[in-house]
Order: sequence, then C-alpha cells, then structure tokens
Amino acid sequence: MEEKDIPTAWYNIVADMKEKPMRMRNPQTKEPLKEEDLYPLFSKAASHQEMNETDAWIEIPDEVREMYKVWRPTPLVRAYGLEKALDTPAHIYFKNESVSPIGSHKLNSALAQAYYCKQEGVTNITTETGAGQWGAALSYAAKAFGLELAVYMVKVSYHQKPYRRSIMQTFGAQVIASPSMSTKAGRKILTDHPNYQGSLGTAISEAVELAMNTPNCKYTLGSVMNHVMLHQTVIGLEAEKQMEMAGEYPDVVIACFGGGSNFSGISFPFLRHKINEGKDIRVIAAEPASCPKLTRGEFHYDYGDEAGYTPLIPMFTLGHNFAPANIHAGGLRYHGAGAIVSQLLKDGLMEAVDVQQLETFQAATLFAQSEGIIPAPESAHAIATAIREAKQAKLEGKPRTILFNLSGHGLIDMAAYDLYLAGDLRNYEVSNEELQKNFEEIKDL
Ligand SMILES: Cc1ncc(COP(=O)(O)O)c(C=O)c1O
Repeated sequence: MEEKDIPTAWYNIVADMKEKPMRMRNPQTKEPLKEEDLYPLFSKAASHQEMNETDAWIEIPDEVREMYKVWRPTPLVRAYGLEKALDTPAHIYFKNESVSPIGSHKLNSALAQAYYCKQEGVTNITTETGAGQWGAALSYAAKAFGLELAVYMVKVSYHQKPYRRSIMQTFGAQVIASPSMSTKAGRKILTDHPNYQGSLGTAISEAVELAMNTPNCKYTLGSVMNHVMLHQTVIGLEAEKQMEMAGEYPDVVIACFGGGSNFSGISFPFLRHKINEGKDIRVIAAEPASCPKLTRGEFHYDYGDEAGYTPLIPMFTLGHNFAPANIHAGGLRYHGAGAIVSQLLKDGLMEAVDVQQLETFQAATLFAQSEGIIPAPESAHAIATAIREAKQAKLEGKPRTILFNLSGHGLIDMAAYDLYLAGDLRNYEVSNEELQKNFEEIKDL
C-alpha cells in the first residue's frame, strides 16, 4: 500500500446503525444534549462529529492527511512466527499501529483534534493520559499545530512510566501527576484519599476543570467519545484493503479495550459489512479482568469522569467512582465503554472477553519472541485473545482467519516486563460486592 491508499474519509458507523446510540444527557437538566452544549468543552468540528448520525463518511482534512503520510498506511503483517509457535491452522494477521512516531494508534485522533482546535483559533488545550500514550501523541500533535498543552497524567503511570512523561515534556507539554492540588477536583480527592494513585476518571475531571476555567482553551480526549472512534477508523479502512490484497477476509477481528478507540478503529469498517450485508464476522473486545466494564458492567447513564463534570453518557460502566487495580496496562484502566460500543454490545453485534494480567504478559512474551516486537501491555490483551482463538482453531482442526490490532509497542514499558520476568506480577479479582457498591452510586443518575 502507498500514500494514495490512505483513506480520504473516516467512517461514521452511527449512520449505518439500525439502533442509534442513546443521546448523552446534560448532567444538570438531564435533557438530551445538543451539539452546542459541547462547544465549551470541545472544538466545534469535534462537537459536530460527536452528534453526527447521518453522514457515513466524513472527509479527512488535507492538513491531517498530510501528517498521516509520515507513517501511514501502517503495515498489515501475517504473524507467521506466532502461527508456528502455536502450531495452529489459523492464519493470524495484525495491523501494526506501533509504527507511528510516538508508538501507538493515539496519533490518529490527536492530530485531528489539534488541527480542529487550531482552525478555530484555540490557543491552549488540556487532556488526561493513563499510560502516557495519548498524552505523548497529543504533545506531538499540539506542537505540530502550535498549541500549548497541559496533560494530567494518572499518578501511578507518572511513576511507573517516567520516560513517557519525559517524551511529553520533550515535545513541550506541561505534565502534572493526577490527582493534583492544581484543581478543585484533585484537591477534593487528595483530601479524602491522600494516597490515591489516580485513575483516568480523576485525570479527566482535572483536565476538564482547567479547560473550563482557562480562556481560549479546549479539552481533548483520547478515547470514549464518538468523534475519537471516528478518527481511528483509518486503521480498519486500511486493514480492509490490505486483507483484500492478501486474498483473505477475517473470521474474527480483535482489539484491546480501554475506552474503545483502537477497538472501534479496527472493527467498525468490518462491522459495516455485518450491519449492511449480514456478513458473518465476529468482533471481540479484550479488556482486563481487573476493569471489566463490558463483561461485568451495567448499562447505565454515567459520568465520563470522577468528579461528574462531563455529560452523562449511556454506556456499560463500572461506575465513575470505580478505582481499578494498578495493572500495568494503564491505558485500559477506565470505567466506561462509550455510547457507540455499548449500543453495539447491547445489540449483540460484538463480543467482549476479559483477560488476567499474567495471561497478557505470557502472550506478550510469546509474541515478542516469535515476531520480534515488544507489544504494549494494553495491546497484549488483544494478542492473548488472538492466541485463545488460534488454540481453539487447532482444537477444532479447522482454519480460521484472525485479525488483531497491535495498538502500540511496549519499549517504554520495560519496567513492567522486568516485574513479569522476576515473577512479581499478579492477577487481580474484582468482587461482586465492590461492583454492587459502585452500581448503587450511579443508580439515580
Ligand atoms: C497502546 C494502547 N492501546 C490501547 C489503549 C486503550 O485505549 P483505547 O481503548 O481507546 O484504544 C491505550 C490507552 O492509552 C494504549 O496506550
């Protein structure tokens, strides 16, 4: 594939969905949200995309597509080494998003969001980051389009992944460990729980608060929202063509799941064949067992953040106060699944599985040894699920074409690999009591 094969439009699955996702609600009035309600928070273009239920194709601005050319199209790789190691009749393919300049898929949306802000005369942007991948991507995108950026980084990752912090600072961003004393939301949490190591929900509250209180400043988000899913569809659109060139069509498409952006990116273009043509294809989201919103969450209106600043989103959630265990896949420690994916799951158009931490690192190590790429701990959830599928194919003695998204590399996550190799990582269980407690807290929202 060449530059000319980079898609010229993103795919908006909502236009094709028979059951549209339910509308977000204003947290004060509980009224369905209008596009204008989002303007204080996001750029107007992103707000429009967020609410767009009619246009299946949305043109990628030339300036963004030019930037995509730096690393897109990304390779589609047949994982011969992994197939051999598993001795499976399955054909395993992966889309390698780790080749972006900052090492993950997050740049696909970061560039689009920064571009729209610049177009609209915004000077400052804020965001949160879990593992630091989104923050790193946005730092680069902000610099590329001449914006000032403040990043709230989940405290546990700030300490576990100091080099991601340095990367963001190298690109010129200001990085603050969250919870921090710089916002009302952060101060409240720190007063109630002085040792709290942070979560994406808390970091979002802080970033939103700063954006709302700073002139000419917008907030940007690396996942969960519909417009972010939209920007990531370049992944699946390219993969669709590449699979065709390989003379194959996937039986199953797999991605890891934090707030859903890389999952949506690879799977929505394939799901459109299922929705529009009834194509027989399975789509699987792989989430950590310690943060199981899709497999054990409740469908409910809930906040996207801890302090309750964001609109109420109709989604599978563990409750916005859910504090996930400190697993090393920091980017998957988020309580909710977003409106589109939640509707797709409700409608039985996709599946979800959970994976324990040790299984993910076992899969990551096998993948590294057989394919020569160290995967991000987040992406390892997709690899572990692909391996399960390949083993099942072997058991059944039948071929199966598996496509998964390698959302990022793990070269800055080696501290986690060190712990795994030393036998110091463990699995985490979430009790039903803990989940029930969190569900209680959102039942009246
Ligand atoms: C490499 C990588 N993969 C996946 C994710 C999860 O995010 P999402 O579900 O939006 O793809 C992250 C989040 O930080 C990430 O860094």
